[in-house]
Amino acid sequence: MPAQKFSRRYLNRHKKSAQLWRRAAKITPGGVESNIRFFKPHPFLADYGDGGYIYDVDGNKILDFMMGFGALFLGHNDRDIALEVIKQLESGSMLGITTELYVEYIETIQKAFPSMKKVRLCNSGTEATMHAMRVARAFSGKDKVAKAEGAYHGAQDYALQSLEFDHATLRKMDGYKPVTYGRGVPKAIRDTIVIYPYNDIEGTAEILEQNQDDVGSLIIEPVLCGPGVITPKNNYLKKLRRLTSKMGIVLIFDEVLTGLRIAYGGAQEYYDVRPDLTCFGKIAGGGFQLAGFGGEAQIMDVLEPGKGFKFGTFHAGTYNGHPVSVAAGKKCLEILGAHPEYYTNSNALGRQLFSGLQDLADDRRIPAWVEYVGTIGNVYFTTKDEMNSFRDTFGTNEKRWWNWFIHCLGNNVLFGIPNTGERAFISAVHTEEDIEWALEVADAGFAAVAKQARRQRERAPPLKLQAVREQAGLYGETPAPPSV
Ligand SMILES: Cc1ncc(COP(=O)(O)O)c(C=O)c1O
Repeated sequence: MPAQKFSRRYLNRHKKSAQLWRRAAKITPGGVESNIRFFKPHPFLADYGDGGYIYDVDGNKILDFMMGFGALFLGHNDRDIALEVIKQLESGSMLGITTELYVEYIETIQKAFPSMKKVRLCNSGTEATMHAMRVARAFSGKDKVAKAEGAYHGAQDYALQSLEFDHATLRKMDGYKPVTYGRGVPKAIRDTIVIYPYNDIEGTAEILEQNQDDVGSLIIEPVLCGPGVITPKNNYLKKLRRLTSKMGIVLIFDEVLTGLRIAYGGAQEYYDVRPDLTCFGKIAGGGFQLAGFGGEAQIMDVLEPGKGFKFGTFHAGTYNGHPVSVAAGKKCLEILGAHPEYYTNSNALGRQLFSGLQDLADDRRIPAWVEYVGTIGNVYFTTKDEMNSFRDTFGTNEKRWWNWFIHCLGNNVLFGIPNTGERAFISAVHTEEDIEWALEVADAGFAAVAKQARRQRERAPPLKLQAVREQAGLYGETPAPPSV
């Protein structure tokens, strides 16, 4: 099956999207709002969302496991949140003066994350990590921040280090070095970042010790989601907590993705580790632009205003604590806080979907590893049977992943963010029936991938060595067919 056959149905079903996208691509780079939203052959354009589904401009009803990049844990267009937003709009969309609502929001999010004794709000996860890193540098008095290889902390310059690179770069690398993503990020910024290996506590300790005069803080995605989904193994987070405490390093948990998702209290609740600072976003805004950061009072106090340009640390933003987003976020937090069963149920769906995907791939004899925790998971087309680090994701069969993904999307199931090394998100509004249907579609995708692999093998010239051995009778029994 030629590769384009995998996208044929998608193309047939998205003719209006193609037209609109071509129009968009003339006036905005890639025809999309963000680089991550672009995919080949072309992105589709959404009309509206409802519950666990997106309806696109061609009239397709698509089962959505991307869910607003993970922001929509209560599904598209949650009625209670929408009503709260409408109510807030009647008091003005933007006041620029602190509101009681802001205070209530912070008191509410502190119930989810008791480690945050003081909190500030901003508008995106990118801003949250940028400000948290500045606060940590100000508090520690040290310029360098340690960051895990492969981790994603948003689109700010300090975070665009070692989140992705290729085989050739890896081969040339000795140990762990920051590799800047793309152009436009000053080299001087790269030099303020020290890279450590996720899930390798000895390796992490060695790097922190080598840099202990300069490194004052360490940022981590508790579940490493930059390269898909890689869960912490062997108590890595607890050991990291002990190590950073011993070394006086500020530990920052970037819970933009995991917060309010893998548990109400995020990864810090799930793995029982208390960081010094936390970044949050996505679900915290109930589908609106809201993020923030917070932590130990003495650290956050570097932001106390009135210390002036010499002794103060700056954090500001015209739209910080925007009342509409805060109203939406507060409603979302209240709903989630009152319904612990949303977590139990959606985590059960996570098991059903992700272990189901693993079984289907195994049954089709397609080498794959499905890594997941709770409601986030990713299918790696790989011969490995565990994923512990960014480097473990090298050598996954990206083409195969893409063929499977676009085949499923052509059958109206969006299996997460449309890039390899991303992930699927389940929400509290998805149902067992949704998962069953998704697994049916996924299986057809695996079958198509397996068929293509078989054809490729049949067409491949025979291996000379194997032929010689066979002729010499070196195989006692007929060897089992290799898995595809
Ligand atoms: C762990 C993590 N940190 C930060 C960000 C950046 O958040 P935003 O896209 O809201 O800027 C993301 C976004 O996906 C993320 O997953």
